[in-house]
Amino acid sequence: TYVIAEPCVDLLDKACIEECPVDCIYEGGRMLYIHPDECVDCGACEPVCPVEAIYYEDDVPEQWSAYTKANVDFFDELGSPGGASKVGKVNRDVEPALSLPPQQH
Ligand code: F3S
Ligand code: F3S
Repeated sequence: TYVIAEPCVDLLDKACIEECPVDCIYEGGRMLYIHPDECVDCGACEPVCPVEAIYYEDDVPEQWSAYTKANVDFFDELGSPGGASKVGKVNRDVEPALSLPPQQH
């Protein structure tokens, strides 16, 4: 799977959403999260993010390693809806984004 990391927090550019062929990038309160089971590893989202927030799971920078788990934890309550557009924005986040101070962009 691919993982969205800290640069997305409080920016939510959403260019990535347009690229995903399986609609597996879900909007939380302060960032977006990629569904680890629904992502088919096409990689289309990664180059379009203007702040390089998206990484293949094996390439997540060390300082953002907690975001790999965040992209899993976010779906604890949602399960696998099979499409982000029908779910819409979910006004909730998980750690570490949940406790992160406001981010300047
Ligand atoms: Fe976030 Fe980048 Fe997508 S800022 S919403 S991961 S394009
Ligand atoms: Fe979609 Fe990106 Fe995965 S475009 S299928 S979330 S690699």
